[in-house]
Amino acid sequence: MAEIVFPENFEWGAATASYQIEGAYNEDGKGESIWDRFTHQKGNIANNDTGDLACDHYHRYQEDIKLMQKIGLDTYRFSISWPRILPAGNGKINQKGIDFYKNLVEELLEAGIKPAATLYHWDLPQKLQDNGGWENRDTAKYFDQYAQIMYRELGDLIPRWITHNEPMVVSMVANLWGEHAPGNQELQKALQVAHNVLLSHGLAAQSFRESGIDGELGITLNLNHVYPNSDSKKDQIAADYCDAFNNRWFLDPVFKGKYPEKLMDLYQNKFDQPFEVKAGDLDIISREIDFLGINYYSRAVVKYDEDEFYNFKTIKPEAEYTEMNWEVYPKGLTDLLKRLDREYTKGPIFITENGAAYDDQIAEDGSVHDPKRVNYLKEHFKAAHQALEAGVNLAGYYVWSLMDNFEWAYGYNKRFGIIYIDYDNHQKRILKDSARLLKDVIENNGLKNK
Ligand code: BGC
Repeated sequence: MAEIVFPENFEWGAATASYQIEGAYNEDGKGESIWDRFTHQKGNIANNDTGDLACDHYHRYQEDIKLMQKIGLDTYRFSISWPRILPAGNGKINQKGIDFYKNLVEELLEAGIKPAATLYHWDLPQKLQDNGGWENRDTAKYFDQYAQIMYRELGDLIPRWITHNEPMVVSMVANLWGEHAPGNQELQKALQVAHNVLLSHGLAAQSFRESGIDGELGITLNLNHVYPNSDSKKDQIAADYCDAFNNRWFLDPVFKGKYPEKLMDLYQNKFDQPFEVKAGDLDIISREIDFLGINYYSRAVVKYDEDEFYNFKTIKPEAEYTEMNWEVYPKGLTDLLKRLDREYTKGPIFITENGAAYDDQIAEDGSVHDPKRVNYLKEHFKAAHQALEAGVNLAGYYVWSLMDNFEWAYGYNKRFGIIYIDYDNHQKRILKDSARLLKDVIENNGLKNK
Protein backbone atom coordinates (compact mmCIF):
# COMPACT_ATOMS: atom_id res chain seq x y z
CA MET A 1 0.00 0.00 0.00
CA ALA A 2 1.45 3.34 -1.02
CA GLU A 3 1.81 5.92 1.69
CA ILE A 4 0.66 8.75 -0.52
CA VAL A 5 -2.22 7.71 -2.70
CA PHE A 6 -3.66 9.82 -5.50
CA PRO A 7 -7.34 9.73 -6.45
CA GLU A 8 -8.43 6.73 -8.48
CA ASN A 9 -8.93 8.58 -11.76
CA PHE A 10 -5.76 10.65 -11.45
CA GLU A 11 -3.86 10.64 -14.75
CA TRP A 12 -0.09 10.34 -15.03
CA GLY A 13 1.70 11.44 -18.14
CA ALA A 14 4.70 13.05 -19.76
CA ALA A 15 4.91 15.94 -22.19
CA THR A 16 6.88 17.08 -25.24
CA ALA A 17 6.59 19.69 -27.99
CA SER A 18 6.88 19.37 -31.76
CA TYR A 19 9.88 21.59 -32.46
CA GLN A 20 11.78 20.25 -29.47
CA ILE A 21 11.65 16.58 -30.50
CA GLU A 22 10.42 15.94 -34.03
CA GLY A 23 13.26 16.97 -36.34
CA ALA A 24 12.31 16.40 -40.02
CA TYR A 25 12.13 20.18 -40.24
CA ASN A 26 11.78 20.25 -44.02
CA GLU A 27 10.33 16.84 -44.79
CA ASP A 28 7.05 15.69 -46.28
CA GLY A 29 5.87 19.14 -47.24
CA LYS A 30 6.34 20.88 -43.89
CA GLY A 31 6.62 24.67 -44.12
CA GLU A 32 9.24 26.80 -42.41
CA SER A 33 8.49 27.85 -38.83
CA ILE A 34 9.79 30.87 -36.93
CA TRP A 35 12.00 28.47 -34.96
CA ASP A 36 13.56 27.09 -38.15
CA ARG A 37 14.34 30.64 -39.17
CA PHE A 38 15.56 31.74 -35.72
CA THR A 39 17.84 28.75 -35.12
CA HIS A 40 19.37 29.00 -38.58
CA GLN A 41 20.54 32.52 -37.80
CA LYS A 42 23.89 32.21 -36.02
CA GLY A 43 24.17 33.56 -32.52
CA ASN A 44 20.60 33.06 -31.34
CA ILE A 45 21.02 29.63 -29.73
CA ALA A 46 23.75 28.09 -27.55
CA ASN A 47 26.23 26.23 -29.79
CA ASN A 48 24.10 27.35 -32.74
CA ASP A 49 22.04 24.21 -32.17
CA THR A 50 18.91 23.73 -34.26
CA GLY A 51 15.87 21.46 -34.15
CA ASP A 52 16.59 20.14 -37.65
CA LEU A 53 17.05 16.61 -36.34
CA ALA A 54 16.33 16.94 -32.60
CA CYS A 55 15.30 13.51 -31.26
CA ASP A 56 14.19 12.40 -34.72
CA HIS A 57 10.83 11.59 -33.17
CA TYR A 58 9.15 12.15 -36.54
CA HIS A 59 10.72 8.90 -37.71
CA ARG A 60 10.94 7.14 -34.37
CA TYR A 61 7.55 7.81 -32.80
CA GLN A 62 6.68 4.11 -32.71
CA GLU A 63 9.78 3.31 -30.68
CA ASP A 64 8.94 6.25 -28.39
CA ILE A 65 5.41 5.00 -27.81
CA LYS A 66 6.85 1.63 -26.78
CA LEU A 67 8.95 3.44 -24.18
CA MET A 68 5.88 5.32 -22.94
CA GLN A 69 4.18 1.96 -22.57
CA LYS A 70 7.12 0.60 -20.66
CA ILE A 71 6.85 3.51 -18.22
CA GLY A 72 3.11 2.90 -18.05
CA LEU A 73 1.91 6.39 -19.01
CA ASP A 74 -1.84 6.94 -18.84
CA THR A 75 -1.56 9.96 -21.11
CA TYR A 76 0.92 11.71 -23.38
CA ARG A 77 0.94 15.43 -24.13
CA PHE A 78 2.50 16.43 -27.46
CA SER A 79 2.10 19.42 -29.72
CA ILE A 80 1.11 19.74 -33.34
CA SER A 81 3.36 21.66 -35.66
CA TRP A 82 1.16 24.21 -37.41
CA PRO A 83 3.46 24.49 -40.48
CA ARG A 84 3.34 20.71 -40.95
CA ILE A 85 -0.41 21.00 -41.39
CA LEU A 86 -0.53 24.35 -43.19
CA PRO A 87 2.90 25.14 -44.65
CA ALA A 88 1.94 28.76 -45.26
CA GLY A 89 -0.11 29.09 -42.07
CA ASN A 90 -3.39 29.14 -43.98
CA GLY A 91 -4.74 27.94 -47.28
CA LYS A 92 -3.41 24.68 -48.62
CA ILE A 93 -3.40 21.69 -46.26
CA ASN A 94 -0.45 19.30 -46.24
CA GLN A 95 -2.04 15.85 -46.00
CA LYS A 96 1.25 14.22 -44.99
CA GLY A 97 1.35 16.42 -41.92
CA ILE A 98 -2.14 15.34 -40.92
CA ASP A 99 -1.18 11.72 -41.54
CA PHE A 100 1.80 11.95 -39.22
CA TYR A 101 -0.33 13.04 -36.27
CA LYS A 102 -3.09 10.63 -37.18
CA ASN A 103 -0.65 7.74 -37.14
CA LEU A 104 0.86 8.95 -33.88
CA VAL A 105 -2.52 9.24 -32.21
CA GLU A 106 -3.81 5.90 -33.48
CA GLU A 107 -0.67 4.20 -32.23
CA LEU A 108 -1.06 5.89 -28.83
CA LEU A 109 -4.65 4.75 -28.55
CA GLU A 110 -3.67 1.22 -29.47
CA ALA A 111 -1.06 1.35 -26.72
CA GLY A 112 -3.76 2.44 -24.26
CA ILE A 113 -2.31 5.95 -23.87
CA LYS A 114 -4.64 8.93 -23.92
CA PRO A 115 -3.44 11.60 -26.38
CA ALA A 116 -3.45 15.23 -25.26
CA ALA A 117 -2.67 17.63 -28.11
CA THR A 118 -1.39 21.18 -27.80
CA LEU A 119 -2.23 23.21 -30.90
CA TYR A 120 0.49 25.80 -30.43
CA HIS A 121 3.82 25.26 -28.75
CA TRP A 122 5.62 28.15 -30.41
CA ASP A 123 6.41 27.01 -33.96
CA LEU A 124 4.46 29.61 -35.91
CA PRO A 125 4.56 29.29 -39.71
CA GLN A 126 7.22 31.75 -40.91
CA LYS A 127 4.88 32.96 -43.67
CA LEU A 128 2.58 34.36 -40.99
CA GLN A 129 5.50 35.98 -39.21
CA ASP A 130 6.36 37.69 -42.50
CA ASN A 131 2.99 39.42 -42.14
CA GLY A 132 3.55 40.47 -38.54
CA GLY A 133 3.05 37.14 -36.78
CA TRP A 134 1.05 37.30 -33.56
CA GLU A 135 1.21 41.06 -33.62
CA ASN A 136 -1.18 40.91 -36.53
CA ARG A 137 -4.77 40.21 -35.46
CA ASP A 138 -5.30 38.07 -38.59
CA THR A 139 -3.03 35.45 -37.06
CA ALA A 140 -5.71 34.79 -34.43
CA LYS A 141 -8.20 34.14 -37.21
CA TYR A 142 -5.78 31.80 -38.99
CA PHE A 143 -5.11 29.97 -35.75
CA ASP A 144 -8.83 29.36 -35.37
CA GLN A 145 -9.01 28.01 -38.94
CA TYR A 146 -6.07 25.70 -38.24
CA ALA A 147 -7.73 24.54 -35.01
CA GLN A 148 -10.93 23.76 -36.88
CA ILE A 149 -9.01 21.64 -39.38
CA MET A 150 -7.50 19.66 -36.52
CA TYR A 151 -10.87 19.20 -34.78
CA ARG A 152 -12.34 17.95 -38.03
CA GLU A 153 -9.45 15.61 -38.83
CA LEU A 154 -8.60 14.27 -35.38
CA GLY A 155 -11.48 15.33 -33.17
CA ASP A 156 -12.81 11.80 -32.83
CA LEU A 157 -9.41 10.45 -31.77
CA ILE A 158 -8.05 13.10 -29.40
CA PRO A 159 -9.98 13.50 -26.14
CA ARG A 160 -7.93 16.38 -24.68
CA TRP A 161 -6.97 19.59 -26.45
CA ILE A 162 -4.84 22.50 -25.29
CA THR A 163 -5.03 25.64 -27.40
CA HIS A 164 -1.82 27.38 -26.31
CA ASN A 165 1.28 26.62 -24.37
CA GLU A 166 2.40 29.53 -22.19
CA PRO A 167 1.14 32.76 -23.80
CA MET A 168 3.42 34.60 -21.38
CA VAL A 169 6.48 33.11 -23.03
CA VAL A 170 5.09 33.63 -26.54
CA SER A 171 4.53 37.30 -25.78
CA MET A 172 7.09 38.44 -23.21
CA VAL A 173 10.05 36.08 -23.63
CA ALA A 174 9.84 36.20 -27.43
CA ASN A 175 8.77 39.82 -27.98
CA LEU A 176 9.93 41.81 -24.97
CA TRP A 177 13.07 40.01 -23.83
CA GLY A 178 13.89 38.79 -27.36
CA GLU A 179 15.23 35.43 -26.16
CA HIS A 180 12.87 33.33 -28.28
CA ALA A 181 11.76 33.52 -31.90
CA PRO A 182 11.01 35.97 -33.43
CA GLY A 183 13.37 37.85 -31.07
CA ASN A 184 11.64 41.24 -30.75
CA GLN A 185 12.30 43.57 -27.84
CA GLU A 186 9.38 45.93 -27.63
CA LEU A 187 6.81 46.12 -24.88
CA GLN A 188 3.90 47.28 -27.04
CA LYS A 189 4.53 44.48 -29.52
CA ALA A 190 4.63 41.99 -26.66
CA LEU A 191 1.33 43.28 -25.26
CA GLN A 192 -0.36 43.06 -28.64
CA VAL A 193 0.99 39.55 -29.10
CA ALA A 194 -0.34 38.52 -25.68
CA HIS A 195 -3.77 39.88 -26.54
CA ASN A 196 -3.94 38.28 -29.98
CA VAL A 197 -2.75 34.93 -28.64
CA LEU A 198 -5.44 35.03 -25.95
CA LEU A 199 -8.00 36.07 -28.54
CA SER A 200 -7.02 33.12 -30.73
CA HIS A 201 -7.49 30.86 -27.72
CA GLY A 202 -11.02 32.16 -27.24
CA LEU A 203 -11.89 31.80 -30.92
CA ALA A 204 -10.58 28.23 -31.00
CA ALA A 205 -12.44 27.41 -27.78
CA GLN A 206 -15.65 28.68 -29.33
CA SER A 207 -15.08 26.64 -32.51
CA PHE A 208 -14.43 23.59 -30.37
CA ARG A 209 -17.86 23.93 -28.74
CA GLU A 210 -19.50 24.50 -32.10
CA SER A 211 -17.78 21.45 -33.58
CA GLY A 212 -19.71 19.26 -31.16
CA ILE A 213 -16.62 17.16 -30.45
CA ASP A 214 -16.91 15.02 -27.42
CA GLY A 215 -13.57 16.01 -25.87
CA GLU A 216 -12.27 18.58 -23.41
CA LEU A 217 -10.39 21.77 -24.16
CA GLY A 218 -8.22 24.03 -22.04
CA ILE A 219 -5.22 26.33 -22.09
CA THR A 220 -1.79 25.93 -20.50
CA LEU A 221 -0.33 28.87 -18.57
CA ASN A 222 3.12 29.02 -17.02
CA LEU A 223 2.58 30.27 -13.50
CA ASN A 224 4.85 30.79 -10.54
CA HIS A 225 3.78 31.63 -7.05
CA VAL A 226 5.30 34.95 -6.05
CA TYR A 227 6.69 35.66 -2.57
CA PRO A 228 7.82 39.04 -1.23
CA ASN A 229 11.40 39.04 0.03
CA SER A 230 10.23 40.47 3.36
CA ASP A 231 7.03 41.49 5.12
CA SER A 232 7.62 45.13 4.30
CA LYS A 233 4.83 46.99 2.55
CA LYS A 234 7.14 47.82 -0.33
CA ASP A 235 8.16 44.23 -0.97
CA GLN A 236 4.51 43.28 -0.94
CA ILE A 237 3.82 45.89 -3.60
CA ALA A 238 6.69 44.42 -5.60
CA ALA A 239 5.24 40.90 -5.27
CA ASP A 240 1.88 42.15 -6.43
CA TYR A 241 3.38 43.72 -9.55
CA CYS A 242 5.33 40.58 -10.33
CA ASP A 243 2.23 38.45 -9.90
CA ALA A 244 0.27 40.80 -12.17
CA PHE A 245 2.97 40.61 -14.85
CA ASN A 246 3.65 36.85 -14.73
CA ASN A 247 0.34 35.37 -13.72
CA ARG A 248 -2.69 37.65 -13.59
CA TRP A 249 -2.09 39.19 -17.02
CA PHE A 250 -3.05 35.79 -18.43
CA LEU A 251 -5.32 34.33 -15.74
CA ASP A 252 -7.62 37.33 -15.43
CA PRO A 253 -8.64 37.65 -19.09
CA VAL A 254 -9.27 33.89 -19.36
CA PHE A 255 -11.22 33.51 -16.12
CA LYS A 256 -12.54 36.99 -15.40
CA GLY A 257 -12.73 38.63 -18.80
CA LYS A 258 -10.52 41.60 -17.86
CA TYR A 259 -6.90 42.68 -17.61
CA PRO A 260 -5.45 43.52 -14.19
CA GLU A 261 -6.01 47.22 -13.56
CA LYS A 262 -2.72 47.74 -11.86
CA LEU A 263 -0.73 47.00 -15.00
CA MET A 264 -3.25 48.55 -17.33
CA ASP A 265 -2.78 51.83 -15.45
CA LEU A 266 0.98 51.51 -15.71
CA TYR A 267 0.81 50.86 -19.46
CA GLN A 268 -1.72 53.61 -20.08
CA ASN A 269 0.54 56.09 -18.32
CA LYS A 270 3.38 55.08 -20.59
CA PHE A 271 1.63 54.82 -23.96
CA ASP A 272 -1.40 56.56 -25.45
CA GLN A 273 -2.74 53.22 -26.56
CA PRO A 274 -0.72 50.32 -25.17
CA PHE A 275 -2.36 47.77 -27.47
CA GLU A 276 -5.56 47.26 -29.41
CA VAL A 277 -8.53 45.53 -27.80
CA LYS A 278 -11.75 45.44 -29.79
CA ALA A 279 -15.21 45.42 -28.24
CA GLY A 280 -16.20 41.86 -27.43
CA ASP A 281 -12.63 40.49 -27.37
CA LEU A 282 -12.63 39.84 -23.65
CA ASP A 283 -15.93 37.98 -23.86
CA ILE A 284 -14.38 35.71 -26.46
CA ILE A 285 -11.20 35.22 -24.41
CA SER A 286 -13.19 34.29 -21.32
CA ARG A 287 -15.34 31.61 -22.98
CA GLU A 288 -15.77 28.69 -20.65
CA ILE A 289 -13.07 26.03 -20.84
CA ASP A 290 -13.05 22.47 -19.52
CA PHE A 291 -9.78 22.60 -17.61
CA LEU A 292 -6.77 24.73 -16.82
CA GLY A 293 -3.28 23.44 -17.58
CA ILE A 294 -0.42 24.84 -15.55
CA ASN A 295 3.31 24.55 -16.04
CA TYR A 296 5.19 24.92 -12.80
CA TYR A 297 8.96 24.91 -12.43
CA SER A 298 9.86 27.32 -9.65
CA ARG A 299 8.70 30.25 -7.55
CA ALA A 300 9.62 33.93 -7.71
CA VAL A 301 10.98 35.89 -4.76
CA VAL A 302 10.96 39.63 -5.31
CA LYS A 303 12.05 42.84 -3.73
CA TYR A 304 10.87 46.41 -4.29
CA ASP A 305 13.04 48.44 -6.64
CA GLU A 306 11.81 51.86 -7.71
CA ASP A 307 14.25 52.00 -10.61
CA GLU A 308 12.53 49.09 -12.30
CA PHE A 309 9.57 49.78 -14.59
CA TYR A 310 7.46 47.18 -12.77
CA ASN A 311 8.90 48.14 -9.37
CA PHE A 312 10.29 44.72 -8.64
CA LYS A 313 13.55 42.87 -8.86
CA THR A 314 13.93 39.11 -8.59
CA ILE A 315 16.02 37.72 -5.73
CA LYS A 316 17.85 34.41 -5.66
CA PRO A 317 17.56 33.06 -2.12
CA GLU A 318 20.18 30.66 -0.86
CA ALA A 319 18.70 27.33 -1.85
CA GLU A 320 19.04 24.37 -4.17
CA TYR A 321 18.97 25.20 -7.88
CA THR A 322 18.60 23.15 -11.06
CA GLU A 323 20.84 23.42 -14.10
CA MET A 324 18.56 26.18 -15.37
CA ASN A 325 19.43 28.10 -12.22
CA TRP A 326 15.82 27.75 -11.11
CA GLU A 327 15.22 27.31 -7.39
CA VAL A 328 13.83 23.95 -6.32
CA TYR A 329 10.72 24.98 -4.38
CA PRO A 330 7.99 22.33 -4.28
CA LYS A 331 5.87 24.24 -1.77
CA GLY A 332 5.33 26.86 -4.47
CA LEU A 333 3.31 24.28 -6.38
CA THR A 334 1.03 23.61 -3.40
CA ASP A 335 0.57 27.33 -2.76
CA LEU A 336 -0.09 28.02 -6.42
CA LEU A 337 -2.70 25.27 -6.75
CA LYS A 338 -4.48 26.40 -3.60
CA ARG A 339 -4.53 29.98 -4.84
CA LEU A 340 -5.95 28.94 -8.23
CA ASP A 341 -8.68 27.02 -6.45
CA ARG A 342 -9.43 29.99 -4.21
CA GLU A 343 -9.38 32.74 -6.80
CA TYR A 344 -9.86 31.29 -10.28
CA THR A 345 -11.22 27.82 -10.86
CA LYS A 346 -12.73 24.83 -9.16
CA GLY A 347 -10.95 22.77 -11.77
CA PRO A 348 -10.20 20.41 -13.15
CA ILE A 349 -6.58 21.53 -13.20
CA PHE A 350 -3.82 19.54 -14.89
CA ILE A 351 -0.15 20.07 -14.24
CA THR A 352 0.80 20.01 -17.92
CA GLU A 353 4.52 20.42 -17.20
CA ASN A 354 6.79 20.01 -14.23
CA GLY A 355 10.36 18.80 -14.21
CA ALA A 356 13.99 19.79 -13.95
CA ALA A 357 17.20 20.04 -15.98
CA TYR A 358 20.32 18.36 -14.67
CA ASP A 359 23.65 17.50 -16.19
CA ASP A 360 23.03 13.77 -16.69
CA GLN A 361 25.81 11.41 -17.70
CA ILE A 362 25.84 7.87 -19.04
CA ALA A 363 27.48 5.57 -16.47
CA GLU A 364 30.03 2.94 -17.48
CA ASP A 365 27.40 0.23 -17.51
CA GLY A 366 25.29 2.29 -19.93
CA SER A 367 22.67 3.40 -17.41
CA VAL A 368 21.78 6.98 -16.47
CA HIS A 369 21.32 7.80 -12.80
CA ASP A 370 19.61 11.10 -12.13
CA PRO A 371 19.09 11.24 -8.34
CA LYS A 372 18.48 14.98 -8.29
CA ARG A 373 15.65 14.74 -10.78
CA VAL A 374 14.23 11.76 -8.90
CA ASN A 375 14.21 13.85 -5.76
CA TYR A 376 12.80 16.91 -7.53
CA LEU A 377 9.92 14.90 -8.94
CA LYS A 378 9.16 13.09 -5.69
CA GLU A 379 9.00 16.35 -3.78
CA HIS A 380 6.73 17.92 -6.39
CA PHE A 381 4.45 14.87 -6.47
CA LYS A 382 4.10 15.26 -2.71
CA ALA A 383 3.43 18.97 -3.07
CA ALA A 384 0.69 18.22 -5.60
CA HIS A 385 -0.76 15.67 -3.24
CA GLN A 386 -0.91 18.24 -0.47
CA ALA A 387 -2.99 20.46 -2.72
CA LEU A 388 -5.33 17.54 -3.37
CA GLU A 389 -5.66 17.00 0.36
CA ALA A 390 -6.57 20.66 0.69
CA GLY A 391 -9.43 20.07 -1.73
CA VAL A 392 -7.95 21.31 -5.02
CA ASN A 393 -9.47 19.60 -8.04
CA LEU A 394 -6.20 18.42 -9.58
CA ALA A 395 -6.85 15.78 -12.21
CA GLY A 396 -3.49 14.82 -13.63
CA TYR A 397 0.24 15.41 -13.84
CA TYR A 398 2.49 15.50 -16.91
CA VAL A 399 6.21 15.37 -16.29
CA TRP A 400 8.37 17.58 -18.48
CA SER A 401 9.79 15.99 -20.39
CA LEU A 402 9.40 12.50 -21.79
CA MET A 403 12.86 12.81 -23.30
CA ASP A 404 15.82 15.17 -23.44
CA ASN A 405 15.24 17.62 -26.25
CA PHE A 406 15.98 20.97 -27.85
CA GLU A 407 15.71 23.38 -24.92
CA TRP A 408 15.05 26.54 -26.95
CA ALA A 409 17.72 29.23 -26.44
CA TYR A 410 19.87 26.68 -24.57
CA GLY A 411 19.89 24.17 -27.43
CA TYR A 412 20.84 20.65 -26.34
CA ASN A 413 22.80 21.90 -23.32
CA LYS A 414 19.97 21.34 -20.89
CA ARG A 415 18.46 17.94 -20.29
CA PHE A 416 14.92 17.75 -18.91
CA GLY A 417 14.05 14.21 -20.00
CA ILE A 418 13.20 11.13 -17.99
CA ILE A 419 14.57 9.37 -21.06
CA TYR A 420 18.16 10.20 -21.99
CA ILE A 421 18.90 10.98 -25.62
CA ASP A 422 22.44 10.12 -26.69
CA TYR A 423 22.92 12.77 -29.36
CA ASP A 424 26.38 11.39 -30.19
CA ASN A 425 25.06 7.93 -30.78
CA HIS A 426 22.18 8.17 -33.25
CA GLN A 427 19.82 9.65 -30.63
CA LYS A 428 19.77 6.38 -28.72
CA ARG A 429 17.14 6.36 -25.97
CA ILE A 430 18.02 5.28 -22.40
CA LEU A 431 15.51 5.23 -19.56
CA LYS A 432 16.82 7.26 -16.62
CA ASP A 433 16.13 6.38 -12.98
CA SER A 434 13.47 9.11 -13.01
CA ALA A 435 11.57 7.14 -15.67
CA ARG A 436 11.61 4.17 -13.30
CA LEU A 437 10.40 6.39 -10.49
CA LEU A 438 7.46 7.51 -12.62
CA LYS A 439 6.74 3.88 -13.53
CA ASP A 440 6.58 2.99 -9.81
CA VAL A 441 4.45 6.00 -9.01
CA ILE A 442 2.01 5.07 -11.76
CA GLU A 443 1.90 1.43 -10.66
CA ASN A 444 1.14 2.43 -7.08
CA ASN A 445 -0.82 5.55 -8.02
CA GLY A 446 1.33 7.23 -5.40
CA LEU A 447 4.56 7.12 -3.46
CA LYS A 448 5.54 4.31 -1.17
CA ASN A 449 8.00 6.15 1.03
CA LYS A 450 7.13 9.59 2.19
C1 BGC B 1 8.08 25.04 -22.05
C2 BGC B 1 8.92 23.92 -22.56
C3 BGC B 1 10.33 24.07 -22.01
C4 BGC B 1 10.28 24.01 -20.50
C5 BGC B 1 11.62 24.12 -19.82
C6 BGC B 1 8.33 25.43 -20.64
O1 BGC B 1 8.45 26.82 -20.60
O2 BGC B 1 6.73 24.81 -22.33
O3 BGC B 1 8.88 23.90 -23.94
O4 BGC B 1 11.21 23.15 -22.54
O5 BGC B 1 9.46 25.02 -20.01
O6 BGC B 1 12.21 25.34 -20.05
